[in-house]
Amino acid sequence: MQKQAQTSVPIHWPIANRWSPRAFGTAPVSAVDLTKILEAARWAPSCLNEQPWAFLVATRGQPEEFQKALSCLVEFNQGWAKNASVILFGLAHKVFNSSGKPNTYALHDLGLATASLMIEGESLGLRTHAMAGILPDRIREVFGVPEDFEPVTALAIGRPGDPETLPEPLLVREKAPRERKSLDQIAFGGQFGKPFADKGL
Ligand SMILES: Cc1cc2nc3c(=O)[nH]c(=O)nc-3n(C[C@H](O)[C@H](O)[C@H](O)COP(=O)(O)O)c2cc1C
Repeated sequence: MQKQAQTSVPIHWPIANRWSPRAFGTAPVSAVDLTKILEAARWAPSCLNEQPWAFLVATRGQPEEFQKALSCLVEFNQGWAKNASVILFGLAHKVFNSSGKPNTYALHDLGLATASLMIEGESLGLRTHAMAGILPDRIREVFGVPEDFEPVTALAIGRPGDPETLPEPLLVREKAPRERKSLDQIAFGGQFGKPFADKGL
């Protein structure tokens, strides 16, 4: 199923086509594709090039690891993410390696790396779905996460699936149109709240 973004001008297709499904197909994600999306994350920009991200990756091919990862999601997310091929946790390094001071850009930079991963994934025919519904303390315990890293989000990754396999409430959400604020609501010029477009391009 496609849910292409409705844009005012054409944009790069993997960005327009990316969306967050809950139905996944059974076809596995190859080791090469998995490496490609991790490489895409690796080459994201970051404040002082600190690269304050780490990823815990569990694939369906390793059933024990996969179950372990699933058990670190809230129940709602477990319900659909169990059909993904990969569960990945994104962790942020909370302090600068260089100074030991708090890195207030760590979440920003983990987000950049995650977005790169998602776009690379879409370009390879993979679907990704981010989740805040995780159990951070359990992730720490189960995967032995060091104190200075914070589990922030999970990603379910897999091949596109058949929405009709989802239970009714999820099916409705799967088919719902994607919505966004307008450009006027987010891009300002001259003064906060004043649409950038008013200035003329
Ligand atoms: C940080 C973050 C956390 C999210 N958490 C969840 C979640 O726990 N469960 C879920 O089903 N979807 C979750 N989502 C998916 C969003 O609901 C989805 O990205 C948003 O509705 C926009 O839809 P789209 O990605 O299809 O454009 C999350 C997305 C992000 C970026």
